[in-house]
Amino acid sequence: MKKTIKNFKLKNKRVIIRCDFNVPMKDGKITDDTRIKESIPTILFALRKKAKVILMSHLGKVKTEEDKENNSLRVVADALSELLGYEVKFCPVTHGDYFEEMVDELKPREVMLVENTRFEDLNGKMESMNDEALAKYWASHADIFINDAYGSSHRNHASVVGIPTYIPSGIGFLVENEIKCLEHIIRKPSHPFIVVLGGAKVSDKIGVIENLVEKADKIIIGGGMAFTFLKAKGYEIGKSIVDEASIDFCQSMLKNYSDKIVLPDDIVVGLNFDASTTIRVANADGIRMNEMGMDIGPMTIKKFSSYIREAGSVVMNGPMGIFEFDRFNTGTKAILECMANSYADVLIGGGDTAAAAMKFGYKDRFYHISTGGGATLMYLEGKKLPGLAAIEDR
Ligand code: 3PG
Repeated sequence: MKKTIKNFKLKNKRVIIRCDFNVPMKDGKITDDTRIKESIPTILFALRKKAKVILMSHLGKVKTEEDKENNSLRVVADALSELLGYEVKFCPVTHGDYFEEMVDELKPREVMLVENTRFEDLNGKMESMNDEALAKYWASHADIFINDAYGSSHRNHASVVGIPTYIPSGIGFLVENEIKCLEHIIRKPSHPFIVVLGGAKVSDKIGVIENLVEKADKIIIGGGMAFTFLKAKGYEIGKSIVDEASIDFCQSMLKNYSDKIVLPDDIVVGLNFDASTTIRVANADGIRMNEMGMDIGPMTIKKFSSYIREAGSVVMNGPMGIFEFDRFNTGTKAILECMANSYADVLIGGGDTAAAAMKFGYKDRFYHISTGGGATLMYLEGKKLPGLAAIEDR
């Protein structure tokens, strides 16, 4: 059991709360503020306990000076001020005199947000490579470190893994809740336990399949990754996306777990990767050489749904079709809808699937929608997240 923010005396203490404010943005505006909203309970708790709160996060990737402009956390500071109802002071630098003065002047019940920690990546990837000197420097400006950045906990960053090496540390409420929900589903799933996987590449999900195949009653495969499985069965898949390096893996799964792996029976195929391409529904073994798979077909939706309706628990990660095009959202939407109306404990594994669940209005219909993409995948692979391993045990 990890220490939590509740295990610390926070009064008058400088508390770094590492959040995951890596929110989607378009034209300089936040398009989904879920991650910001979900960090509020931890921040409010610290403020109520009279802590001096220093928030840190990364945003996007920062590889050039120009990237700084599009990846400033200033907009997050504004959005957070509004949501919290407290002024969030913004520190436009990640180190140096200005940063140090702001920290020194911070009073109990005040909160500041430090600029994007990945600005330090311009200086030899110091944040992303967990530079020791940088982690020590940040740690020297705080008394306690709280990891509430579940979505970043698979990253070996200085602001995630480095800082807690040097000062007392715990997890925040967001991380605590993510772990509780994941453990509930993964450790003792109610059966039938159904794992629904989609997305483009089998290679991204090999670890998840290997870790869950014994525990799961069915592993349902949709999305782009289904075509690698269909090819492994010897089917023609035309111009559909394929992950050649994973064909052997798919063959061995189909051989050893033929009773568990569930593949599409029909596919919506098109002629080109284009929203307005000519389409038809093909049997999974009837795709032509000039066609590519865009979405799961109606028979497949029925088959997948019949398993989900009977399920005790479901984990879903990855969309069922080409999610970027509304026209090929039907499968993803139907499967989410079926899960939303089922009695199962459903955990949505973050990233694109979480975005789809929100988009279709199912935000409150599931047991849990994870705020982590890569972090949840790593968790489902049964691996330890470095950002959590770095936190003290109780
Ligand atoms: C995420 O969105 O998955 C996390 O914030 C990590 O972001 P990254 O993939 O840019 O490291």
